[in-house]
Amino acid sequence: MKKFAALLLALAFVACQSADYGEKGPERGLVTDRAMVVSAHPLASQVGKEIMQKGGNAVDAAVAVQFALAVVYPGAGNIGGGGFMMTRMADGTTNALDYREKAPMAGGRDMYIGENGEVIPQSSTRGHLAAGVPGSVAGFEAAHKKYGELPWPDLVQPAIDLAADGWKLTAREARNLNGNRQNFEKYNTVRPDFFLKVGDEEWQEGETVKIPELAKTLELIRDNGRDGFYKGETARLIVEEMKRGGGIISLEDLEQYEAVWRTPISGKYRGYDFISMPPPSSGGIALAQLLQSVEPHDLSSYGFHSEKSIHLMVEAERRVYADRATHLGDADFHKVPIRGLLDKKYQAKRMESFNPNKATSSEEVSAGAPAPPESEETTHLSVVDAMGNAVSVTTTLNGGMGSKVFVGGAGFLLNNEMDDFSVKPGTPNMYGLVGGEANAIQPGKRMLSSMTPTIVAKGGKLFMVVGTPGGSTIITSVFQTIINVIDFGMGMQEAVSAPRFHHQWLPNVVIMERAGIDSTSNLLSNLEAMGHQFTSTGGMGSVDAILVLPNGKLEGGADPRGDDTARGY
Ligand code: GLY
Repeated sequence: MKKFAALLLALAFVACQSADYGEKGPERGLVTDRAMVVSAHPLASQVGKEIMQKGGNAVDAAVAVQFALAVVYPGAGNIGGGGFMMTRMADGTTNALDYREKAPMAGGRDMYIGENGEVIPQSSTRGHLAAGVPGSVAGFEAAHKKYGELPWPDLVQPAIDLAADGWKLTAREARNLNGNRQNFEKYNTVRPDFFLKVGDEEWQEGETVKIPELAKTLELIRDNGRDGFYKGETARLIVEEMKRGGGIISLEDLEQYEAVWRTPISGKYRGYDFISMPPPSSGGIALAQLLQSVEPHDLSSYGFHSEKSIHLMVEAERRVYADRATHLGDADFHKVPIRGLLDKKYQAKRMESFNPNKATSSEEVSAGAPAPPESEETTHLSVVDAMGNAVSVTTTLNGGMGSKVFVGGAGFLLNNEMDDFSVKPGTPNMYGLVGGEANAIQPGKRMLSSMTPTIVAKGGKLFMVVGTPGGSTIITSVFQTIINVIDFGMGMQEAVSAPRFHHQWLPNVVIMERAGIDSTSNLLSNLEAMGHQFTSTGGMGSVDAILVLPNGKLEGGADPRGDDTARGY
C-alpha cells in the first residue's frame, strides 16, 4: 500500500503541471466589467482577450486560446491531444463538445501486455505507441462552425505569430524544458532542436523560443481547417513519425476522426444548476454524485477544512471513485448506467454506510449497483464574453509533454492518452486509477477521462465557470472549488487558491496539499484517529475559474500553483 501511495504522490506532481503551491501567493482575483479569460499562460489569456475585443465571442476566444496554448504551454496545451468544451450561451442554451482522442483501429485490449501477462513498463505512457488519435483540431473546428463569429484564420493567426516570432520563457517553463531533456532525447526519432540546447546548456527564464515547424503546421490549419491536420502534409508527417517509432496511428485513423456534440450532464446543488461533461469523461457524473452525497449535510456550518467537512467529503470521494472504476467508460462502446448513477436515492444508499466518527476502509467499499442503463498533463481555460456567453474547456496530452514524442517536421507533441484506458483490469494507471471492462481498449473507442469542465448557473443566470487539470484529482478539485464558493462563502480567487485534498478510493489514502497542513493544529492527527491515512503533495491541479459577482462584474480565479493568469476588460 505504501508503494501505491508513493506512486500516487508522484502522480499528483505529474498531473498538476506545476511546482509547489505558493510560488505566486494567493491574491484577490482580477475583477472586470464585461469579459474575461483565465488560462494557464498570460500570453494565451491575452490572445483570448484581444479576440473578444475584436468582436469575437467566448467560443472564438476559447479556440484562439487553445491554439496559443499549443505553442506557449507545450506540456499540456496541444494540437496533438484532445479535450472537452462546455458551452452556455447567453440565451441559456448549453452544449458539450467531445474531442477526446481515440484508440487507433490497429489497437486492442492487450496491446500493452507482454508475454509474461504483465503490462510492459511505460508502454502506455511513453513513446509512439502511447498516443491516441488526436481530436483537438477537429474539436476547435466543430466549435467554431457552430458558434464562432470571427473568421477561422483570425483564431489561428495569433498562435502562428507566437510560434514564428517566439515567446519568452517563464521560470517554470524553463525548468520544465530542462527537466524533460532526457525524455526528448530518448523518445524522438527527429531531434526537437527548438526545445533541446546543444551540450549541457540549460534554458533560462526570459530566453526566447521559436518553433518554425509548428508555425508551418498552424498555417496549414489556418488555410485548410481540420483538413490541414487530418489530411495532406501534417497527416503524412504524423504517419511517417509513427512508422519510424513503432506507433500505429494510420492515415485512415486521422481521416475518420470526428468531434461529437453530446448532451451535458446537468444537476442541481443547493438551488444552483450545473452542467458538466458526460462520458467519455467521468467528470460530470462523478461531480454530480459528489455534490448529491454532501448536499444533505450542513457543510457551511462545519466550516472550511474542519474535521467534519474533510471527513464527509473524503468519504463521498471514496464511494464515487469506486463507482467510477467499475461503471464508467466510453458510452459509445459500453452501456454506462448514467440515470442510475445520478439518482439521488442511489447516492443516499451509497452514503448509508457513512459513519460521522470513523473512516470507512476502502476494502469495505466496492462499486454500487445503480439501476441498469436506460437502454450507456491537461490544462483548463474559462471564458466569459461581454454578451454573457460562457465556455469551459479542459484539454490534454495526458501526462506533462504527453508521450514526449514530437511529430518530426511538424513541431508538436503527441499525447499519451492511451494510458487513460484500463490497460489491464485492476492494474493502476499513471494516476493510480484502476478500471475494468467498461474502460478496456477497443479500436476506435475513447479512453475514460476525469476532465470536468463545468458551468454553474443560478436563477437562470450565469454564476461560475470552472475546471482544472490534474488527472484523477480533477474531479475532487472542481468539487472543492464549487463547495468553497457555495458553502464556505469564498470569492473566486480565494476558492481557487485554497488548499485542496483528494481521495480516489484506491489507494486508501488522502492526499493533502502541504499548504493545507498546519503543523500547530491537531486536524490531521484527529482525522488519523478516525482511521484516515494522509500523504502530502506540493500542488494539486491548476483551477482557472470565473465568478459573476452580485453587481454583474466578473472575478477571475487564476491558480497560483502555475503561471495561470486572468485577463479581461
Ligand atoms: N488525461 C487526464 C484525463 O483525461 O483525465
